[in-house]
Amino acid sequence: MKAFEYINNRLCVNKHDLAEIAAIHGTPTYIYSAERIVENYNSLNAALAQELPDHQKTICYAVKANSHTAVLSLLARQGCGADIVSGGELFRCLEAGIKPENIVFSGVGKTDHEIEFAIKSNILQINAESLPEVERINEIAQRLNKTASLGLRINPDVIGGDHDKISTGRKDDKFGIDYDHGLDGYKYAASLPGIDMTGVSVHIGSQITTQTPFVEAYNKIASFIDTLNNHGIYLKNIDLGGGIGITYTDEQPLDPVAYARTVKETVGRFDARLIFEPGRAITGDAGVLLARVQYVKTSPSGRNFVILDTGMSEMMRPALYGSKHPILPCLRDPAANKVDGVYDIVGPICESSDVFGRDLKGPLPQAGDIVAIMVSGAYGMSMASNYNTRPYPLEIMASQPHIDVISPRKDYSALIAGETIPEWLSKF
Ligand code: LLP
Repeated sequence: MKAFEYINNRLCVNKHDLAEIAAIHGTPTYIYSAERIVENYNSLNAALAQELPDHQKTICYAVKANSHTAVLSLLARQGCGADIVSGGELFRCLEAGIKPENIVFSGVGKTDHEIEFAIKSNILQINAESLPEVERINEIAQRLNKTASLGLRINPDVIGGDHDKISTGRKDDKFGIDYDHGLDGYKYAASLPGIDMTGVSVHIGSQITTQTPFVEAYNKIASFIDTLNNHGIYLKNIDLGGGIGITYTDEQPLDPVAYARTVKETVGRFDARLIFEPGRAITGDAGVLLARVQYVKTSPSGRNFVILDTGMSEMMRPALYGSKHPILPCLRDPAANKVDGVYDIVGPICESSDVFGRDLKGPLPQAGDIVAIMVSGAYGMSMASNYNTRPYPLEIMASQPHIDVISPRKDYSALIAGETIPEWLSKF
């Protein structure tokens, strides 16, 4: 079943009418399709099973893409693990029922508190990104009388990702340990009493739509593992990161089977558990952001601005990366006789980067229209803020026949809850 489709010119999610949902719950509202999330998970799982039948494999969903506990709980039920980057994400995962033995912890700046939480939770592996971090993990593990399962994240010096801001595997990116110093890092870490060297990890970037960067990075990791083996260091886990690209507008998505084949041809010869950290590929096309057109105005030079009630505070990808999301009308009413036009779709935030699309062509939207910002299930809500003191959008999870609010719209008082005004301000 298609998760999002027009039925009688009305855009639906799992056959629920999006315009009706907007009428009942208001806008801006994120809606996620449970079916689509599971389909995405299953399709990657099936591709990996087909190409790598003899390997133990764990998909550790990158929680940062969409961290709602309902999404995590849905994935936990499929047997999915998690890739986390903070104590908060670990807390969410445990609350949602993801098994600690399926959780890996990445990130360049883990704090003592986060490391302690991870070690006490007995997670599968902490991926350390520097030698000072290895040292810190060792100290904390010893203090807790435990050994920490550790991988080193190796920076392979490969360009990945469709945008400078989401490429992570180049030599001068802040991520991982330099490839050429990796062996020394392993020798050092393996000598520490609080550390059990269980794996290696690599993640080169996000929204990768060709095999080439993966082939390059995974081949480098394979020869790195050969070097480790030659020095008597053997690993249980090879964590291949995330980055699988999807279709926003006209990109060819990365084919899961071709990706699984790349994995087989590069690191398939090692007898180790393979770990994958997809984020966007699991939740990206499973979510949309519903918005209402507030006003349409025309500049003196004739530029039409369609102004939505949602902006970069709820969906910051276009403002931050210049990324393009299709924006579809929830009602395609042939009788409305809309005039065709060229228009920009913008948000209400006081920043000129708050633009969803420029020079779009088609029937000119009108005030009151409900539109869906498509492919917003990943890095949408998880990157939302209260900038301009705007409440977070409401969130809904849909399935057939269910439709449930999973995060309510909060009122203004919730936005200032916990703020205090010092008494001494009265002196001023
Ligand atoms: N593993 C690690 C260590 C990561 O840093 C990331 C993403 C992933 C896995 C998941 O990558 P994915 O499969 O989703 O491409 N906010 C940006 C994306 C930033 C990605 C950061 N790291 C965006 O909206 O495009």
